Amino acid sequence: MKKKICVLLIIFAFVTVGAFLLSACNNYSYEPVEDFFNISLTFAGSGSTSRAFSFMTNGTDYENKCAVQLDPAGEKDAEPKFGSKDNILLETATRQHTHIKTYYVHSAYTTELTPGTKYFYRVGCPEEDKWSPWGVFTTDDGDDSFSFLFVTDMQSDGDKYYQILSENIRKAISESPQAEFVLSTGDQIEYGFLQGDWDKFFRYIQDVILNNTFAVVNGNHEISTYLMEANFYLPLELERYCYAFEYGNCLFMVLDNNGDMPEQLEWMEGVMAASSAKWRIIGMHMSPYSPGNHADQLASLEVKRLVTPFAARHSVDLVLSGHDHIYSRTCPIDENGTRAQSEDIVITEMDGYTATTHVKPGGPIYISNRTIGTKFYNKSNSLYDHLIDKGDPGKIQIPIFSVINIEGNKLTFTAYEYHRDTTKDIKIYDYFEIIK
Ligand SMILES: [Fe+2]
Repeated sequence: MKKKICVLLIIFAFVTVGAFLLSACNNYSYEPVEDFFNISLTFAGSGSTSRAFSFMTNGTDYENKCAVQLDPAGEKDAEPKFGSKDNILLETATRQHTHIKTYYVHSAYTTELTPGTKYFYRVGCPEEDKWSPWGVFTTDDGDDSFSFLFVTDMQSDGDKYYQILSENIRKAISESPQAEFVLSTGDQIEYGFLQGDWDKFFRYIQDVILNNTFAVVNGNHEISTYLMEANFYLPLELERYCYAFEYGNCLFMVLDNNGDMPEQLEWMEGVMAASSAKWRIIGMHMSPYSPGNHADQLASLEVKRLVTPFAARHSVDLVLSGHDHIYSRTCPIDENGTRAQSEDIVITEMDGYTATTHVKPGGPIYISNRTIGTKFYNKSNSLYDHLIDKGDPGKIQIPIFSVINIEGNKLTFTAYEYHRDTTKDIKIYDYFEIIK
């Protein structure tokens, strides 16, 4: 009897999972209409001299014939001059997509750009003079002042939610014109194992990605690292989606929580030894100290066990994450996972929020950003309440984006809520400063 029940349960589980996968696959199958699609722009080292490009084609027409064309522009040039003699042509490496056999993935990178320079670019086939729409980016000028946008968990389940995400991310970008790039801490995609879902993501926000460098983090929904690399190419040194880049006076270290963390942390030690950047920021998917429903799971506890001493000992300033879809900001945390002292703390009541300034904090501050998308979670543990200086009291269904500004010895962090369902305004939800 017991055996029969077990067999029935196994069949039921297979049928349920099978039906789910089939419906997801059907929902996300896609016939591309553009010649060149899923065009992405990310870092391949220093923000002042590098960029990595990736895009796809369907069918054999453009196999081994593609390139990225860059046009270095003057600050005042509003339109590109493709074809002029200072253009740069990067030949792409081409590989067949492992999941969709008719797709070809084209990628290229350069580490030889000029700092502080605006570049127009497009991707395509020079031989046939067929090209994508053009995008634009500006390389870091290398001084000690810059801003970036921090978003997380864009994952959207279907057109309705992609439409909302598209509006939210456009709002975040238009409200932070000073931001020079976007850090997205994982779960860009709901069904990361389906290329069709990646296709849909790009269809909704391709122009945003074309015109903004995205430093992306691998989330648990992107556990298939192959699809992550196929859509956001990086010349990776480790097998995981783990990399580092310098921007201004800051070293960014991106960790892949799906992979071997000790190996990545060891690699990062070498990266830090070779860097003289004043600020250090870790971007990863899991939030070790969040009040959300993942913080007491084994994987998050392991990340917390490894990252806490690493980040404190190596004078990391901020650890930026998502995964729990709920906002929290910790106090500075020492290598034992307890409250670290700051040399001074100044708290100022502002109109609707509290501004906190930490002078020379004794450890990194950990942020779990609420999503910029549409999935919001409840508060479900009080494990780290004693370490959280600002946190959502429960499920708040208002998307958040954060803008970080670094200027010399001062870092400012502002989390904005986008009240899309009511006033359509943005409002400061949290603000703090670190002075070194
Ligand atoms: Fe996640």
